[in-house]
Amino acid sequence: MDPDDALAKLFFTDEGIADPAPLYRSMRETAPVHHSATGAIFLTRFDDCRELLRDNRFGKSNRAGEPLIPSSDPAAAEVRKQQVAQSIAEKRPTSILFLNPPHHTRQRGLVARAFTPRRVQQLRSEISVLADKVVDEFVETGGGDLLDVIAFPLPVAVIGMLVGVPEADWPQFRSLITTSAAGIEPGATVDELHAAAAARREVNDYFAELLAERKANPQDDLLSDLLAVKEGDDSLSDGEIIAVTTLLFAAGFETTTNLIGNGMGALLRNPAEMESLWADPSLLSTAVEEVLRWDSPVQFDARSALEDADIAGVEVPKGASVVTLIGAANRDPEHFSDPESFDIGRDEGPPMSFASGIHYCLGANLARAEGEEVFRALIERCATIEQAGELNRRHRMTLRGYSSVPVTVTPR
Ligand code: HEM
Repeated sequence: MDPDDALAKLFFTDEGIADPAPLYRSMRETAPVHHSATGAIFLTRFDDCRELLRDNRFGKSNRAGEPLIPSSDPAAAEVRKQQVAQSIAEKRPTSILFLNPPHHTRQRGLVARAFTPRRVQQLRSEISVLADKVVDEFVETGGGDLLDVIAFPLPVAVIGMLVGVPEADWPQFRSLITTSAAGIEPGATVDELHAAAAARREVNDYFAELLAERKANPQDDLLSDLLAVKEGDDSLSDGEIIAVTTLLFAAGFETTTNLIGNGMGALLRNPAEMESLWADPSLLSTAVEEVLRWDSPVQFDARSALEDADIAGVEVPKGASVVTLIGAANRDPEHFSDPESFDIGRDEGPPMSFASGIHYCLGANLARAEGEEVFRALIERCATIEQAGELNRRHRMTLRGYSSVPVTVTPR
């Protein structure tokens, strides 16, 4: 297949959303370093993606919010352009996700002083209690939509506890974050883009208010720790703290929801693997790693050439974009044996799903812990889990997941 046709199918059709694997394979086999008609270069091999993400000649574009895959709808493209111009004009502090060194190094270093492995470790027992609670509710009703009862409420509660958001405010974040995340999809419509901008503003305003409260009354939470962080004379500004807490919700919530939902989807589609996991829970951690590889909640990442550079032998002029198709890298037969099969005992090193290099996911271990605790609780409490309806994909390419995961369960 022509690689540009494969890309168009991948990003803009139901077929691509339903099963991107054949399109990824076709691209990797015919044009692993593809200079697309859009001007961006697309990478599908694991080693090329890793090399790009670790190469400091490539970084974040200073046009944050601009899509790498141009919208097929000119009106949506125009709205995006206006939104980018407005965010530049407002000069709001940017979160680490969009920064390059030295600003990224400084801000990530300060954030890492508060978001420590110890904090994640402390949360582990709370995650375990929460997982038991949501799974108990699920089993009591004989099942239902796993996303509604488990995969949405748990990650939002975890980030809520981590950051220090009062429990009464957790539920509103589901729709706010889902609406704002829709804005990063290449196929976002004009209405979705406007709604996304409004939701982002609302989340921003919420954290500005919460920050003011924490200044007056510090607690044992990340928000208070971020306020207290100091490195020499340096500390995080209020704007930076608001940007980073907003980012934690945006980056850490729906991704983890989809890890749990995609995990159940993968097990339902591979019943022998579900049986093996139920028979041997010591496979939990490799099983979560395999879900991340086989059906990654984040399907692509990208960088811009900060100077004239090259990748995999191809010259990349300054300013050009290079997209790493994470879902394709995770199925690269040069890196994973029999890559199309879902094998929960696989132990071939981490997939590309948390990226690589300086922007490597700050919440990777937290997400893994959430995945492991949910499946541990399901194994402990459910004798059987069966699919109870269609598993439909959400029309999203960047953040890949299901719109619902209906199942019936019987208790142990
Ligand atoms: C399965 C769940 C998750 C996946 C697949 C995932 C994936 C990713 C990826 C691919 C990146 C790199 C983005 C880039 O290079 O542009 C990233 C960055 C990031 N993630 Fe995650 N993430 C997950 C969960 C979380 C959680 C739970 C948190 C926090 C509580 C989190 C916080 C972050 C932050 C702060 C960054 C930015 C790091 C930087 O730019 O230096 N993520 N994540």
